[in-house]
Amino acid sequence: MVDANKSMSMLQYKELISEGDLVIVYLDVRHLYPLTITKDQVFQSKYGALKHNDCIGKAFGSSVSCTKGWVYVLFPTPELWTLTLPHRTQILYAADISLIVAQLDLRPGSVVCEAGTGSGSLSHALIRAIAPNGFLHTFDFHEHRVQVAREEFGAHGLGSCVTVTQRDVCSEGFGLKGVADAVFLDLPNPWDVIPLVVTAFKETGGRLCTFSPCVEQVQRSCAALQESGKFRDVVTVECLQRTYDVKRITQPIISLMEDEKEEELNSNGEERSSKHGPTSNQKDTQSDNISHWAAIPPLQTPGHTGYLTYATYM
Ligand SMILES: C[S@@+](CC[C@H](N)C(=O)[O-])C[C@H]1O[C@@H](n2cnc3c(N)ncnc32)[C@H](O)[C@@H]1O
Repeated sequence: MVDANKSMSMLQYKELISEGDLVIVYLDVRHLYPLTITKDQVFQSKYGALKHNDCIGKAFGSSVSCTKGWVYVLFPTPELWTLTLPHRTQILYAADISLIVAQLDLRPGSVVCEAGTGSGSLSHALIRAIAPNGFLHTFDFHEHRVQVAREEFGAHGLGSCVTVTQRDVCSEGFGLKGVADAVFLDLPNPWDVIPLVVTAFKETGGRLCTFSPCVEQVQRSCAALQESGKFRDVVTVECLQRTYDVKRITQPIISLMEDEKEEELNSNGEERSSKHGPTSNQKDTQSDNISHWAAIPPLQTPGHTGYLTYATYM
């Protein structure tokens, strides 16, 4: 039974919107905004003014009227937060995040060490995957980012599953021993950190993942993994999203029978008569068309974000 009035946590769906809740205001697929519901405040959008008071007591997912239209107010999932969060750094998006969570073999109860925290985009998804009894130790050397991430995790009801520590992991490592099922590194020089973080893994072993935009970084990370002598199954992948254009197309039906007949005639050394020449053949075979649905791949696949390198510890 869902308690409609308890304060918001991204870890548990809540039915009704209360004052202080974070909602995602959905205008359309490209225009989504995070909004903390505050009594007597007004949010302006292309559909006019949305009164926060009009959202209170409504169910998450409802449409709410504005002065020039209406918007949806959605429950804030980690995926929607990734699309709307205030950027303090480059962030990871859903395509890479989903692969990271799967490849790190995360499940409720897993313990993860992450550096750097950045804008907390990945952290939100990691916490949801390991909650309610797992734990995320996340590190960043940037004081302001650490402070804002702490505040956001608290406001999103994730505080019991995470600590954010200000630390330069390149010189100090994580300072943790034998606790981690998984380690994730998204910083400029993971190869410097790899030798320092191996002690964080549980004795039973675990999974490591690094994210790097350039292949030269990948090469150095792979070399560091090999030199440590502690990792196996090193694999690097790039996750690209290809959007197919699905549409109805019309194509000629090619008659293979005609082609076969012509080949036979040619192989018997017979002269082609004008009746069986290439022009008449083309005309015959292209006279019938077929219309069908087709998935057309894009000519180019833009959208390189980075390379994900995985390895198994021990
Ligand atoms: C690209 S951001 C991480 C983004 C994050 N994965 C996300 O999805 O929001 C990289 C972060 O690493 C931090 N960083 C870089 N070098 C570091 C180091 N040696 N120790 C700790 N943090 C570091 C930076 O301050 C920055 O916030």
